[in-house]
Amino acid sequence: MMDIPNKLNLPSYKEQSAEVKERLDFIKRQPVVLEIDNLVKEFPTEEGVRRILDQVSFKVHRREFLSIIGPSGCGKSTLIRMLACLEDITDGLILLDTYPVGEPGADRGMVFQKYTLFPWLTVKKNVMFGLEVANKSKFDAEREALQWLDIVGLEPYADLFPAQLSGGMQQRVAIARALANKPKVLLMDEPFGALDAQTRAKMQAYLLQIREKIDITIIFITHDLDEAVYLSDRVLVLEANPGRVQEIVEVPVERPRSPEQFLSPEFLTTKIHLEELIHPSAEESKDDFKVVKMVATEEV
Ligand SMILES: Nc1ncnc2c1ncn2[C@@H]1O[C@H](COP(=O)(O)OP(=O)(O)O)[C@@H](O)[C@H]1O
Ligand SMILES: [Mg+2]
Repeated sequence: MMDIPNKLNLPSYKEQSAEVKERLDFIKRQPVVLEIDNLVKEFPTEEGVRRILDQVSFKVHRREFLSIIGPSGCGKSTLIRMLACLEDITDGLILLDTYPVGEPGADRGMVFQKYTLFPWLTVKKNVMFGLEVANKSKFDAEREALQWLDIVGLEPYADLFPAQLSGGMQQRVAIARALANKPKVLLMDEPFGALDAQTRAKMQAYLLQIREKIDITIIFITHDLDEAVYLSDRVLVLEANPGRVQEIVEVPVERPRSPEQFLSPEFLTTKIHLEELIHPSAEESKDDFKVVKMVATEEV
């Protein structure tokens, strides 16, 4: 794996075109929407306290698209649930627009992998729900809900029930519902993970289109490296046991994105680098195996 970049003569993932450099510099000059400072999460277990996340720090700027990847069980969902205040903080700080977060709020919209629409409400009523909770008049709530459904391309389906829609369409309604509350950040935990490959590709395109149209900052968890590179400005790699920030990679792929870029040198070199971070190369795994055998032999 290590020598693939050389064989393909790929550039370093750190090389950036003028467009990429300018865009990333622009993002870095934007206000910090979310600041995570030395975040720690511990869970009690039978063997004692287990530290899941350790000293996690990073900043997300306005209109940035940041993906978080990492091995299964490294604490990605725990982290995003803490950002949404669905999980207590053991130690550290989460600042939203410079203020510490305290409880779940409409300023953080959440989209999960599982479909979470209210099955007894129509598509339109699902999107209206948060608006009515926020004391909007029925008239305004309905008008705004229809606008959001239009943005995700589902206005004609407004009066259907969730069960009458495909999985991909249900997730688009969930995105419309989250965005209708005008959140400062959209938190997405493997939102397309349950969809088939073709639908997933369409959803990625929709999300990129939506992102172009509105002023939104997105934190997106995925275990699909193609998805992370395709959608993101930066990709944060978490390592496991305990979950720590391994690297935050700037994606050197130009915007606007299109599927042809999947085979571009910038895309491939980034994906190979992320793959190396998450799954140690064959060489390293072999070394690990030898060490285990040596220890075992010594103990006999
Ligand atoms: N409520 C809980 N109590 C104890 N352990 C938990 C709890 N929630 C999650 N964990 C553990 O924390 C680790 C990280 O889980 P999670 O955040 O779901 O990982 P990921 O989303 O990266 O796959 C896992 O080992 C999981 O078993
Ligand atoms: Mg998870």
